Amino acid sequence: MAGIIPRNFIDDLLTRVDVVEVINARVPLKKKGREYTACCPFHTEKTPSFTVSSIKQFYHCFGCGVHGTAINFLMDYEHMDFVEAIETLARSQGLDVPREQGGKSPKAYKKDANLYDLLEDVAGYYQQQLTRSSVAQQYLSGRELSHDVISRFKIGYIQDGWDNVLKHFTQKYTVQQLLDSGLLIEKDNGGQYDRFRDRIMFPIRDKRGRVIGFGGRVLGDGTPKYLNSPETSVFHKGTELYGFYEARHNTRKLEQILVVEGYMDVIALAQFDISYAVATLGTATTKDHIVQIFRAVHEVIFCFDGDRAGREAAWRALQNALPVLRDGKEIRFLFLPMGEDPDTQVRKIGKDAFEQSLIQDAVSLTDYMLTHLSEQYNLSNREGKARFLEEVGKLVKDMPDTLIKDQLMADVAKLTSVDIGLIKQRKIGVIQTEPQQSFSRLSDREVRHTPVRFAITLLLTKPDLVAEVEDPEEIALFDLPGCNFLATIIETIEENPHVNAAGLLDRWRNTEYEASLVSLMKWQPESQDDEMLTKEFQDCLRQIRKKAHELKLENLLHKERTEGLDDIEKRDLIALLGNR
Ligand code: UTP
Ligand code: MN
Repeated sequence: MAGIIPRNFIDDLLTRVDVVEVINARVPLKKKGREYTACCPFHTEKTPSFTVSSIKQFYHCFGCGVHGTAINFLMDYEHMDFVEAIETLARSQGLDVPREQGGKSPKAYKKDANLYDLLEDVAGYYQQQLTRSSVAQQYLSGRELSHDVISRFKIGYIQDGWDNVLKHFTQKYTVQQLLDSGLLIEKDNGGQYDRFRDRIMFPIRDKRGRVIGFGGRVLGDGTPKYLNSPETSVFHKGTELYGFYEARHNTRKLEQILVVEGYMDVIALAQFDISYAVATLGTATTKDHIVQIFRAVHEVIFCFDGDRAGREAAWRALQNALPVLRDGKEIRFLFLPMGEDPDTQVRKIGKDAFEQSLIQDAVSLTDYMLTHLSEQYNLSNREGKARFLEEVGKLVKDMPDTLIKDQLMADVAKLTSVDIGLIKQRKIGVIQTEPQQSFSRLSDREVRHTPVRFAITLLLTKPDLVAEVEDPEEIALFDLPGCNFLATIIETIEENPHVNAAGLLDRWRNTEYEASLVSLMKWQPESQDDEMLTKEFQDCLRQIRKKAHELKLENLLHKERTEGLDDIEKRDLIALLGNR
């Protein structure tokens, strides 16, 4: 397997490519002042609110909130993964993508490379064993699987026995590699044996189609019904989805993803030409799962059995989905009739009814949330309403500030007939920030022009302003919210003098800082004049230092009155008083 793409290559690439060109080649842009606009390709609109900044190499839609760099655009618009997007951009510049062994030792990489080969080999072996077993073939035809899906999903079989894989593969691979792949189990007294015996084998592939693990189903009623590969260096259940690769490659225009519970559900749906289903691997749906799905499509439908277990799983999925909700992305819930799973249901009613009655009628996340909660609390009395509001408050606390949230709060006000102003005043649905976190959780509409935020905005516009900073470490020590992050940005630019705003944003992709960086990206300083920018930046630094000193002074004076000061603190206090 190829190594990690070096950070400085990505930085360099992001300074060479022009996001305006990348987007304009796919969505024609119009110049408007310093920026470019178009009708947003990610949601339907009549007046353009999609804006591309050539200075920051960044796009943003004021309508639906999508945003990002040239890399993100290719990922979202062309459904590429990160590596594919980098490779495409590099090719447009005539560059080869270099790889480094960073992070893992070269040895670890070589081992993983073989692990992929090994798993692929074993998958082939399982497929071959299926052709030799009439019992296994009978089982699959009993479940009405077509030859087409059996080969599309590379379904195989492993006959009974403790050492089929062990014997067949130890010439080509080491026992350690077979253990690392999860296919062998170590005995307590030494020696090893096959994990999977007498099971139908479903290879699990990653987004790029490489086999990373297996699920194995018993032919009869044995337990466990499904046995899965353990976590290995290449298989992570919390992020992988069964059928994701197949969905991306067998759907002409992937627009939605249906998340179901089982292997057989994905396969049966695919057989009925519903090729966009994926399954979690015997775990609950995680935030990572949802984030991954939203990189490929804008709409996800969670499908659950109609029984109690299904409803509980649905509620957990809802809780995990709230923090990753974005405007322009849609999550809906589909509940099947009691006793059915997608496999049985699609066989019973067929593709058209499944899509037109079930998928189309799936309820929105907010409707599901409010219906579910209003069934639990009695909204006709005050106590019920109060508890309902409290529960809503807890749930929406994790939601980013979106139009979806505004709409939800308006619906809550209507449902409880409590004035929305009052709800907001009681801070239900308002992110309650602690001073330390207020910066990173900053939302678009809450951007206040504090000097720290303004300094970051200026650096994003013109990274070489870092030259004005005398002492980045001093800034890191200031207690003001955001100072730590400001210092980190300063250091990053100092270490990577050619980085631009897009490169910086990409560095904090998928971290808690991403949202704040994005909201600061959208904020344009009044002037682009170098001299003005430098003056403003110096002014910010002065204000930051002044505020930090005032805060420290206040704290020291307070401590002097209460606990008393030690020698160093006394010295600091005198210095601060002298500086005023
Ligand atoms: P189900 O028990 O609902 O099975 O498990 P199913 O998908 O309907 O399977 P069939 O139709 O009986 O063959 C749903 C999913 O939960 C995980 C598997 O991923 C399975 O597809 N599971 C279930 C396990 O990991 N282990 C088990 O023992 C059972
Ligand atoms: Mn089933």
